[in-house]
Amino acid sequence: MERTLAIIKPDAVSAKHTGNIIDIIENNDFNIVRMYKTKLSKDQAERFYGVHKGKPFFQELVDMMTSGPIIVLALEKDGAIKAWRELMGDTNPANAAPGTIRNLYGVSIGSNATHGSDAPATAAQELAFFFPDL
Ligand code: CDP
Ligand code: MG
Repeated sequence: MERTLAIIKPDAVSAKHTGNIIDIIENNDFNIVRMYKTKLSKDQAERFYGVHKGKPFFQELVDMMTSGPIIVLALEKDGAIKAWRELMGDTNPANAAPGTIRNLYGVSIGSNATHGSDAPATAAQELAFFFPDL
């Protein structure tokens, strides 16, 4: 069974989409291994998104991710990494397929409802960031 890191971002938490997104997760047969609500510090957000440092959207991304509480989840399923990326849809909600989470709950590329790890190495790194006991 593969694991991936999912985040319900501040825009979706403040819009009260948490329950609906967890429903989608469970209806798609992911096992929620761990889950908690937290608020990122600027330092944590900068470290978590370190790969994007220097890009034009970096500051906006850090500001958005620290703007309110988030829900972090360790998800488990066969092929979890790809399955969660597919369920989220395209990074830009305007391009996200109908029925995907970003199509349903994303409002813009900067406020796109959820995060998902993109590969096995990043999933391991991101899971360790939020769930060091796993
Ligand atoms: O989240 P995902 O892996 O789909 O996209 P990314 O390329 O790793 O970018 C991380 C996050 O930065 C995205 O989810 C967007 O919220 C944000 N971003 C942005 O605001 N503007 C862009 N041009 C690209 C990404
Ligand atoms: Mg990414």
